[in-house]
Amino acid sequence: MISPSLLTETLIEKQKLNYSLRDIIPLPKSVLSSDEKAFTLKAGAHISVEPRTTEMLNLGEYLANKLNASTGYGIQILPETGAPAKGSIHLTISDSDPTLGEEGYLLTISENLVSLSANKPAGIFRGVQSIRQLLPPLIESTAVQTGPWLIPAGTIRDIPRFSWRGVMLDVARHFFSVKDVERFVDLMAYYKMNRFHLHLSDDQGWRLMINSWPKLATYGGNTQVGGGRGGYYSQEEYAHIVKYAQRQYITVIPEIDMPGHTNAAQASYAELNCNGVAPSLYSGIDVGFSALCVDKEITYTFVNDVVKELAALTPGPYIHVGGDEVSTLSAADYSRFIERVQAIVQSHGKQMIGWAEIAQAHLSSSSIAQHWKDNFAQLAVQQNAKVIMSPANKLYMDIKYNDSTHLGLIWAGYIGVKDAYEWEPTTIVSGVREDDILGIEAALWSETIQTMTDAEYMVFPRLPGYAEIGWSQVKGRTWEDYERRLSRHGARLKALGVNFYPSSEVAWK
Ligand code: ACM
Repeated sequence: MISPSLLTETLIEKQKLNYSLRDIIPLPKSVLSSDEKAFTLKAGAHISVEPRTTEMLNLGEYLANKLNASTGYGIQILPETGAPAKGSIHLTISDSDPTLGEEGYLLTISENLVSLSANKPAGIFRGVQSIRQLLPPLIESTAVQTGPWLIPAGTIRDIPRFSWRGVMLDVARHFFSVKDVERFVDLMAYYKMNRFHLHLSDDQGWRLMINSWPKLATYGGNTQVGGGRGGYYSQEEYAHIVKYAQRQYITVIPEIDMPGHTNAAQASYAELNCNGVAPSLYSGIDVGFSALCVDKEITYTFVNDVVKELAALTPGPYIHVGGDEVSTLSAADYSRFIERVQAIVQSHGKQMIGWAEIAQAHLSSSSIAQHWKDNFAQLAVQQNAKVIMSPANKLYMDIKYNDSTHLGLIWAGYIGVKDAYEWEPTTIVSGVREDDILGIEAALWSETIQTMTDAEYMVFPRLPGYAEIGWSQVKGRTWEDYERRLSRHGARLKALGVNFYPSSEVAWK
């Protein structure tokens, strides 16, 4: 029997909590709230991990670092001799439940213990994001706060709908520093995204050192939209980004766009042009005017050299080769080029991804088409290739929210916060069904995006909605329920220092 005084205490706590297990974004698959007292994270609490492998210890450290900045408790990872101690947080993959898959997790919260179990370390990492989101928003503060640090009691069993939940950042139109990229990765990880697509080359800039063709970066990386300095990543910096993302169970997909969007490369090496003349560097925002010389053998030497270095630097299985917006080649030349590039990518042990136009060529079933407009994705599924959904009119984060947005473009219309949330990947291209779709990817093109402050304004608060479409089941998802949950995330985004757009579509709390 629960005593009346305990009941009152529970009610007071609920008021203090002012949020519930269901406030998590993306919405977990199953949430069972409990009427038990909440867990309180207190000074002297510790984290235990099982087994005590380096990877599990790192996950414990990651959580401890998040908690220590704002609680000031100096929480440590301690070995357990018996059952997890009262008041502690326990992370385990030892009693693994294979039905949780790669990224699923089981989180149980009682007055005495927070227990997070998963089949794989990636599941622990995703579950840790849920723990963060169940603590008060100020847990994200980088300065010590007073608390109390309550977590509502209950059980969450969570598994993603799609394996591909991506975000693309265009570092070619404007260059972003390694520090910016780290922050971008941190923010996507908070919403359980797991693929980071780096658009590394375009007409306006080449952003990665390729040792066999060094002028691509040292010359072709020298500018950006508007004529600024641009920049490029050294191979060490790129490797650092890959590792940084990997530690958050995020796979980096590098994109070198070809055969179009190649002015920076063609400006760097005259031999990549059919007429042997290098064009000037370009800092405007037109598209479709450049293309590699598909009839010259040197073009394929170039592609092979670039893909070889990129493959060696990239542990993930994918290389993205662009393939979009080519208007200066015949259909036959375009397809012949894509088929040769596909063979090159495969010869370096990787799977080719391209924007869906590549499906006009013969695709291997291991290749992947990324839908953004038109219906080329149908040609991909007819060849048994998989599709990533990035419809521009829903998932392009450089598109303005509305006519008063000071940044962004409008060629795909406007994308409000509700528009970004209210759509379903299986109804975008007819004939492209659930089984054909790996998942979704939101893209931030950077023609008008110059800084991380700009980027955050366009990404948030649309990204949490994309994360939910990628992760959560269709059943139970409504705008009304999502809006209520998102309204409570404003305080979290503030605590994270995110420059989000405070859309009037959301009744921010
Ligand atoms: C694209 O937006 N050109 C893929």
